Amino acid sequence: MSMKSLLILYSYHHKNTEAVARVLARVLGAKIVAPREVDPAELASYDLVGFGAGIDSGKHYKPVLDLADKLPSVEGKKAVIFSTCGAPAFIVTEGFIRGNHAALRAKLEAKGYTIVGEFGCPGFNTNMFLRYFGGLNKKRPNAEDLGRAEVFAQSLVQKMS
Ligand SMILES: Cc1cc2nc3c(=O)[nH]c(=O)nc-3n(C[C@H](O)[C@H](O)[C@H](O)COP(=O)(O)O)c2cc1C
Repeated sequence: MSMKSLLILYSYHHKNTEAVARVLARVLGAKIVAPREVDPAELASYDLVGFGAGIDSGKHYKPVLDLADKLPSVEGKKAVIFSTCGAPAFIVTEGFIRGNHAALRAKLEAKGYTIVGEFGCPGFNTNMFLRYFGGLNKKRPNAEDLGRAEVFAQSLVQKMS
């Protein structure tokens, strides 16, 4: 039986995280929904739930964090966390990404989810003063970022089978 997965996405600044979500969705055969479209009780029917957004003030966008607060407790459910962030690409290391994910990870783990993978990459950022300088991380996520997202998704398929 194939696994059933759902991606919950909030992406608005430049739809950077949406580009990542589309790759994950294609590989996982997942549907993408917005936080406000989610019926928390319905999540129990999925084998894997992904939570993704851009990063604001070092955390996922608020609609995703708020949804995590509203979720019922689960047992033995698997989740993945993904994001794009606008920090200069050279500082977007694994550790930096995990830091951005910490708030959402804590909320999901408190609800009983096991986090089976995390993915992050730089995203084009024209927030505040940056727009006067043409923005940071132009054209990110790029083909290489999306290629890494694809490899990440394939590793999830293997992990779940
Ligand atoms: C209001 C706002 C706040 C942001 N705060 C941060 C931040 O704290 N750290 C960071 O690395 N990027 C920050 N960014 C940049 C976004 O996280 C980045 O551009 C991301 O790729 C946007 O994703 P999206 O296009 O999916 O919305 C911020 C962007 C906006 C619009």
